[in-house]
Amino acid sequence: MADKKILIVFYSRTGTTRGIANRLAATLDCDIEQIIDETPRRGFRGYLRSGLDATLRRPAALRRLQKDPQDYDLVVVGTPVWNASLSTPVRSYLAGMRSRIKETAFFLTHGGRGSERVFKQMQAESLCHPVATLALTEGEIRRGEDREQLAAFVAQLRRFTRATARAPRGEVDTAERIGSGTFVSA
Ligand SMILES: Cc1cc2nc3c(=O)[nH]c(=O)nc-3n(C[C@H](O)[C@H](O)[C@H](O)COP(=O)(O)O)c2cc1C
Repeated sequence: MADKKILIVFYSRTGTTRGIANRLAATLDCDIEQIIDETPRRGFRGYLRSGLDATLRRPAALRRLQKDPQDYDLVVVGTPVWNASLSTPVRSYLAGMRSRIKETAFFLTHGGRGSERVFKQMQAESLCHPVATLALTEGEIRRGEDREQLAAFVAQLRRFTRATARAPRGEVDTAERIGSGTFVSA
């Protein structure tokens, strides 16, 4: 049976998360969608606003999306870390789409602080245990030290989609899936 369908969805304010999303999409040869947020987030004022929005968990006004996650077997969601929190646009996306997402994997880019907390927040918003996670720092990306982690993430995604293609829904994994247990609000 063919591998299942994957969608990559991401938000990026300054391009770092977009770069990883594009590389993943090219490697997996899958669909990709960028979350566009109507709030101005450029410059220093945009930086401050973004941090505050993330800390206060304010909802974002998202531009209409092209892809319906319900059409995909696995939705791979990417975000930057803002104030050790999930970025506002991705929080709104996950909250709005949770009933349309079957399975998720998460990736994030950050400066070095808050990744585990953000993964927990993504899990809480999506009500999904991710099949894989990937956290990359800007330094690792800049120095080209991200390749091994990226390849391992891709391998996990492929393993999962192949396993679920073989088995009926509901009969797969726990060993393949990470983060089983209760949903945590962080
Ligand atoms: C408002 C704001 C707050 C941030 N807070 C954190 C943080 O708490 N921890 C961290 O490691 N990086 C933090 N960063 C850095 C970003 O996570 C990092 O630059 C990321 O790679 C940016 O991704 P992007 O270019 O896709 O927007 C913050 C960035 C912004 C804009």
